[in-house]
Amino acid sequence: MKSIVVFYSLEGNCKLIGNTIAEAAHSDILELKLRKPVPVKGPMKFLAGGGSVMKKSSPELTTVIPDLSDYQLIFIGAPVWAGSFAPAIRTFASSARLENKKMCFFTCCAGGPTEKCISDMKSLFEGNLFISDISFVNPATKDTKSCLNKVRDWVSGLTEDF
Ligand SMILES: Cc1cc2nc3c(=O)[nH]c(=O)nc-3n(C[C@H](O)[C@H](O)[C@H](O)COP(=O)(O)O)c2cc1C
Repeated sequence: MKSIVVFYSLEGNCKLIGNTIAEAAHSDILELKLRKPVPVKGPMKFLAGGGSVMKKSSPELTTVIPDLSDYQLIFIGAPVWAGSFAPAIRTFASSARLENKKMCFFTCCAGGPTEKCISDMKSLFEGNLFISDISFVNPATKDTKSCLNKVRDWVSGLTEDF
């Protein structure tokens, strides 16, 4: 089954998980980048990032979204921002217009909860088949080794089913 990992990451956590999924699942990978990046440090990080969630914005991407019609399985990853997904994912959803794809979600947060973020992503990608989701608390800096083992176990459990 041809698969791709699509993710946005401001601070490297979702990038770490996305890269590990891609390696374990032999997937292609697509990192979403913003034309106007959110600052990584300082109060503007939370003001700009949180504000964009509240406004349900679709920030412009510099990433060109390829034709994804050949992929049967799509992993989509985002940091939890203000309880929901980082808005780059909304821009991706409207550009890619995915339907009838098997989908798995991954999220990174600073402590959660993550349920609303996952359910918001499910609503955004309505019309697809949701297989599984997994969440981590700042895996780039916290229990990194066990998080990466958890990712690999999750992927091997998933790929056994396909
Ligand atoms: C704008 C903004 C809002 C955030 N809101 C939340 C939140 O509501 N809940 C939470 O647990 N973590 C929140 N975080 C923390 C990130 O979700 C967390 O650090 C995550 O691991 C970052 O992933 P990344 O490194 O891929 O960007 C927020 C971070 C930012 C920048």
